[in-house]
Amino acid sequence: MVIKTAEFVKSSARWQDCPEPVMAEYAFIGRSNVGKSSLINAILNFKDLAKTSQTPGKTQLINHFIINENWYLTDLPGYGYARVSKSMRRDFEKIITNYILNRTNLVNLFVLVDSRHTPQKIDVEFIEWCGENDVPFSIVFTKSDKMKPAALAENVENYKAELLKTWEELPDLYITSAEKKTGTSDILKFISKTNELLAKNKVKFE
Ligand code: GTP
Ligand code: MG
Repeated sequence: MVIKTAEFVKSSARWQDCPEPVMAEYAFIGRSNVGKSSLINAILNFKDLAKTSQTPGKTQLINHFIINENWYLTDLPGYGYARVSKSMRRDFEKIITNYILNRTNLVNLFVLVDSRHTPQKIDVEFIEWCGENDVPFSIVFTKSDKMKPAALAENVENYKAELLKTWEELPDLYITSAEKKTGTSDILKFISKTNELLAKNKVKFE
């Protein structure tokens, strides 16, 4: 898919304030600092459309972008940001879970996990929550440029083994680097194929 236009629409504090759910939507989620905003910029081939930061907790609102005047891309706040109070963390989690459960046009959630780590409890629990709530998702390994190929492959295999403890089938997996722009075209290909399928089946969002 060629990205012809990518426009920022708005930042929303709650799902009720999000733009009208009139187009297919693809959202990016994961722990704070995992690289969501960087990956979105790499996918869209824009330098600073989604705001990135070295300090975790940069994205605190639900950010909507319209791509090719045809679909929404969403940058969600990170979960599990340690340096805020417990009640604030719970508030963030509520914003995220309410958004996911109520956003009628959400077609797929890309769950980002850091390729440098073994499966983290918070990510595994979030993925299980997606399963329990029938949320369609894919898993995206980030920052793969920071890993040697063999260690990267080992971490991915570990992750698969962890998922297969609870899942019969593995979800789609993408290995990415925003730095090197790897894996980004595969994600776009998936979105493009899904959009075509939705159009073919005359799925309407309103
Ligand atoms: P929050 O909005 O705070 O939840 O963070 P985020 O998940 O949007 O992360 P962000 O994209 O802001 O990136 C966090 C840090 O990781 C930044 O310093 C990025 O430069 C760095 N980073 C992100 N992706 C990559 C990558 O693919 N490779 C490398 N080497 N660094 C990356
Ligand atoms: Mg961000």
